[in-house]
Amino acid sequence: MSILITGGTGYIGSHTCVELLNSGYEIVVLDNLSNSRKDSLDRIKRITGKDIKFYHSDLLNKGDLHTIFSENNIDAVIHFAGLKAVGESVNVPLHYYENNITGTLNLLEVMEKFGVYRMVFSSSATVYGTQEKVPLSEDLPLQATNPYGRTKLMIEEILRDVTIANRNWSIALLRYFNPVGAHPSGTIGEDPNGIPNNLVPYISQVAIGKLSELKVYGNDYNTHDGTGVRDYIHVVDLASGHLKALEKIMRSTGINAYNLGTGRGYSVLEVIQTFEKVSGKLIPYKITRRRPGDIAISYADSSKAEKELNWSAQKNLLEMCADSWRWQIQNPNGYESKEPEYSSKLILN
Ligand code: WQD
Repeated sequence: MSILITGGTGYIGSHTCVELLNSGYEIVVLDNLSNSRKDSLDRIKRITGKDIKFYHSDLLNKGDLHTIFSENNIDAVIHFAGLKAVGESVNVPLHYYENNITGTLNLLEVMEKFGVYRMVFSSSATVYGTQEKVPLSEDLPLQATNPYGRTKLMIEEILRDVTIANRNWSIALLRYFNPVGAHPSGTIGEDPNGIPNNLVPYISQVAIGKLSELKVYGNDYNTHDGTGVRDYIHVVDLASGHLKALEKIMRSTGINAYNLGTGRGYSVLEVIQTFEKVSGKLIPYKITRRRPGDIAISYADSSKAEKELNWSAQKNLLEMCADSWRWQIQNPNGYESKEPEYSSKLILN
């Protein structure tokens, strides 16, 4: 039984590969390395002692997809591959729609051709948009506020439609809140291209001295200390949620959405204080204007995942920051190797 992991060399993908391999799954990874490094596969092998069959290709290359499914006995797909920078998506929406939507349509068509009807899809809490109330539950009306979020929402709708058209489909939509942290070994972690958009990798680079100070985007929100509140979830907890979802789609059909969050919100200032505690470093920061599009508060009602997937987040903010810091000090420049242009050949690691 092989599981195809699209985007498997990325941040969440690589951590999920570790958990899958450690649980005895055979996996095949497809990635175009546009936002990740093949080096992460070597790191995964260092952690698990297991090889991974890797295809350096792209979901827009339908011929390669056909090759992958004809060369491997794929039983299910965990679909991470996609562009995910909110700000970038506003500037280049067509690039996002082609990469995320067309790539997914290609994948679904080839899956159907080969009779593979099981998928765990990497969705996002961004599909909730701005909501009046928290915690956020799966039955809330969905509304995206940027092209990236709209691709996630559209793909969720596409997956609902294919499930209605063909009852063989078994799909789990996993809505991540704010993934942070790294594998406790410090061997794999988050390796953003350029200046990080997200809070924790930015703080981590301030702590190690790569960046001089953090800009806190607004302290005039209606929260306990005025700064934004988010549901940060450890990436290893997130990875284990994928294994539980995989088990679920193996034993049932239909489509279900699940929030993967801790159900607890932390403010920007609380994250800064926690990171200072675990790193022993002062994090200089400056309060600036709000970032356009940001919401005040977001945290999950993850009771549906607890009930139906028998999953709940186990790690707290201290562990998230400590594991992030360990990855950062062991890998000051992330995965350093630079990748050649991709060629659609099978690369065995
Ligand atoms: C968290 C908090 C910021 C950076 C994003 C995407 C979302 C999902 C997760 C993909 C907010 C504040 C941040 C900084 C700051 N990604 N902040 N200074 O915006 O909740 O979610 O990542 O699915 O789609 O939108 O995460 O880490 O960017 O921000 O003050 O330099 O930290 O205002 O309150 P966000 P974030």
